[in-house]
Amino acid sequence: MTMHSAVARAHANIALAKYWGKADVALNLPAVPSISLTLAPLITETSVVFDERLSADTLSLDGAPATAGELRRAVELLDRVRALSRFQGFARVESSNNFPTAAGLASSASGFCALAGAAWVAAGQAYNETVISALARQSSASAARSVYGGFVELPVADPTQGDVAALAARPLYGPDYWDLRIVVAVTAEGRKSVGSTAGMGLTERTSPYYEAWVAASPGLADQVRSGLAARNLEEVGTAMEQSTLAMHACAMAADPGLIYFQPATLAAMEAVRGLRRDGVAAYFTADAGPHVKALCTAADAPQVQAQLEATNGVLRTMVALPGAGLVVQPGGK
Ligand code: DP6
Repeated sequence: MTMHSAVARAHANIALAKYWGKADVALNLPAVPSISLTLAPLITETSVVFDERLSADTLSLDGAPATAGELRRAVELLDRVRALSRFQGFARVESSNNFPTAAGLASSASGFCALAGAAWVAAGQAYNETVISALARQSSASAARSVYGGFVELPVADPTQGDVAALAARPLYGPDYWDLRIVVAVTAEGRKSVGSTAGMGLTERTSPYYEAWVAASPGLADQVRSGLAARNLEEVGTAMEQSTLAMHACAMAADPGLIYFQPATLAAMEAVRGLRRDGVAAYFTADAGPHVKALCTAADAPQVQAQLEATNGVLRTMVALPGAGLVVQPGGK
């Protein structure tokens, strides 16, 4: 019997220029361009085995059966892989993170990236980063970026082009391009109250600032891109902070308002700005949750970490560095 299985490893990523809002909900097309940094050592490992004895897809996450909602999103991705590859059969999916979900870094980006890669190769298809990125994007747009290591862009897609590359992320610079660090300050335990997908849907429908956010985002992505090209941390960091605050301001103005910040979030942001006043080039960002991530050089990371550790309400910190892209191996573990 031929083995229809594969194992994939993908890293989490953090957006320097944020994605928030969809141009097309059914196709999951982002309304704005985003630019991210793929992070080591935050890894999701996922195995997919198409097994003819199965009568439905199954999914386990970190050794426990997935919830109905998690299973549904995985099955939707598997359905797209089956449709595109014309491969039939149900899959047993096992996925685990080497970082706790409550670490303050999204596991959906690395999770859907690894699932797309493993499912595509397990279905007998040749490894193709563009196709895998486009498949992952439809499940979770940030997942499209984790296919590549280092600095990655997810442009606004033009589906009328009919080309899969128009729906995929594209690599800007590899992980060795610039020795930066992301210092993560965890400020709360547990899961966030409103997930990204629901949060951006509410923002699109009800925030009076949504159009302004969509209009401002390409310029902020341009600044991040040109700052990266020049390895200019001030340019990247300034645009990243503005992208973060504009995204949150837009979400806060939704009805009901989405407040992802906790008191410790603001304290950590203030600590990062305090470092800057002392001459340390550190810049903050925060996703749809209360945790703060500071961007800085490798040399400054110990000082940034110490400052965030000492900040009121910060529970713990960790330092991440530029990570590699997706790796998929045919066959079992
Ligand atoms: C704030 O990619 O999780 O982290 O496409 O609906 O799954 P869906 O959303 P998701 O949103 C990420 C939002 C963000 C910013 C970013 O990563 O660009």
